[in-house]
This record gives sequence, C-alpha cells and structure tokens, in this order.
Amino acid sequence: MRQAIATAEIGDDVLDGDPTVKKLEARIASLLGKEAALFFPSGTMANQTGVWLLSRPGTEILLGTGSHVMMYEAAAAAALCGAQVRPVQGAGLVMDAESLRAAIRPYTPYTLSASLVCIENTHNGAGGVITPLDEMRAIRDVAREHSLGVHLDGARLWNAHVASGTPLADFAACADTVMVSFSKGLGCPVGAALAGPASLMREGWMVRKRFGGGMRQSGFLAAAVLYALDAHMERLADDHARARRFAQSVDGVTGMRVVPPDTNIVMIDVPPGCEASAIAERAAAQGVLISAWTRTRLRAVFHMDVDDAGTEKAARVICGA
Ligand SMILES: Cc1ncc(COP(=O)(O)O)c(C=O)c1O
Repeated sequence: MRQAIATAEIGDDVLDGDPTVKKLEARIASLLGKEAALFFPSGTMANQTGVWLLSRPGTEILLGTGSHVMMYEAAAAAALCGAQVRPVQGAGLVMDAESLRAAIRPYTPYTLSASLVCIENTHNGAGGVITPLDEMRAIRDVAREHSLGVHLDGARLWNAHVASGTPLADFAACADTVMVSFSKGLGCPVGAALAGPASLMREGWMVRKRFGGGMRQSGFLAAAVLYALDAHMERLADDHARARRFAQSVDGVTGMRVVPPDTNIVMIDVPPGCEASAIAERAAAQGVLISAWTRTRLRAVFHMDVDDAGTEKAARVICGA
C-alpha cells in the first residue's frame, strides 16, 4: 500500500481533477452499480452529504436505534442539515421494514413529516449485524410508498458483502445514496465515498466543498484505496472467522454473554456487578485493546492487524480479566 501511495499519479482534485481519484470514483460507482461516486476524507462527511442531498430542513430522518448518523456524528444532521433524527426500534437487533412502516406518521397539520430513511449495514452499534438483502428491499419499498429518500451508511458494506455473498450492487440498489468507508476493514489510512445518481453527485461535489472536504493531491490517498480493494477485500472473511472463534471462547465464561457475530464485531455483556471499563483497562494492561461500549458491554473488533495468535490471546485475556 505504501508503494502504491508513493508511486501514485496525482493532480489537483479541487482544480481540474486528480487522475487517481477519478479512477477510484469510477471503480466505486461501478462496484456499487451507481452512476457516479465522490471520494471523501471521512465517512461522517460522506454520510452527512447524503443526508444534505436527500433530506429537507424541518423534517425528520428515520433510522435504526444506535445508528452512527444519529449517535456519533456530532448532531450534524440537525446542526448542518436542519433535520431531526428519530430512531426506529426494530423487532430484532436492527431496524426492519415493518417497524419502519409503523413509525411513519400519517399526515396531520400537527405532526412533522419525514423526508429520509437511513439504513446502516452492517450495523456497528448492534454488533456488526447484517441487514439481509430481502429486508433491505422491503425497507426501500416502504420508503418509496411514502416518497422518502433512502441513504445507506455502508461504512462496513464490504463485510456484509463478503459474509453474505450478496453483491455490493444489490445492496446499493436499495438506496439512493450509498456511503462506503475505506479506513475500517479495508485498512486504508483515510477515506470514504458517496455514490448515487450523476445529477445528485454533481450537487454533492459542491456540498463536499462547503463542508470543507475538497482535497487537492488526494490521488495519494485514492491509490491506497485502489490497492486495498484488490488486496484486502476477500480477506475480511478471515476477520469474521476469528470473530466467531473469539465469541465461542468467551461466551458463558464467568457469566459473560456474547451476541453471536455476523461479521467482525463482537459485543460482550459483562457479568452482573462488573464494569466494562474496568475489564477493558485490565485487558489493555496485558496488551489487548477492547472498547467499553457501554457501562456493561464490551466491543471487540477483528481486523487485519489481529492474527490467529492475537485472537487466542485476546480470548485468554478477556476470560481472565
Ligand atoms: C457505521 C459507521 N458509519 C460512519 C462512520 C464514520 O466514519 P469516519 O470515522 O470515517 O467519519 C463510522 C465510523 O466508525 C461507522 O462505524
């Protein structure tokens, strides 16, 4: 990857275009089956550009509980786009079509209306949970019935694709705009993309600029992504296998309860009376980094820097911590 970065052909993407960025944007558009794509410095900026393009000020955005767009983007939907977010609790771990349908309010002169639905696939806060293609299609159909736009936060769509075998473009066809991130499982230093119809992405170019996301010699960063798409995609299956092994080793030990992982994220509910942060601190002292997701829940993420030996060590340390 460093070699690809060092030898990248570059230009000025704010002025008249960077050839490597253009190549990456064309590749992402083609992978996702969309007309066009834009390269962004972060997933948050790409998500919020999607929200800006598809929502309207003074309306609401319906999304799953614990969504990144709602919880971890500094209230950008409200602060930048003027829309409020309303979480929809699914019957299972993530939002589903029937829960969405039930959450859409009939029009009255007193209730504000929705303009947008955001789906997160895989869902980070739920534990890397996949929303299967059929459910995605059903969500899209409900949104269409009510003339709502759909944005897909696919920061980890790569993981959903590799774990389920569903083509990326099939998932992407369920949304108007799709965000994908390069700095998670694919292992790039920086970057995300937003894909959608060409006319919308032309407008998105200006929104990205307004948000401060115009990048000049960004071909250096795009070259890393082009490398990762070839070299790091299929290996995500290794992360999923390690997550499953880790989950099996930890579940039930000293009262810990594990949410069976769909992909590379393992959520562990700690035994009653234990604090997740205390366990995370003791694990860190032994060289295992795990997040205290809530007071009672730990979150472990498997990625390309965790090998089999690291997986075994993590399970040993967490079980003893
Ligand atoms: C589901 C999801 N969406 C969006 C983002 C935002 O990406 P970035 O950190 O590049 O802004 C993240 C980051 O963790 C995420 O998990």
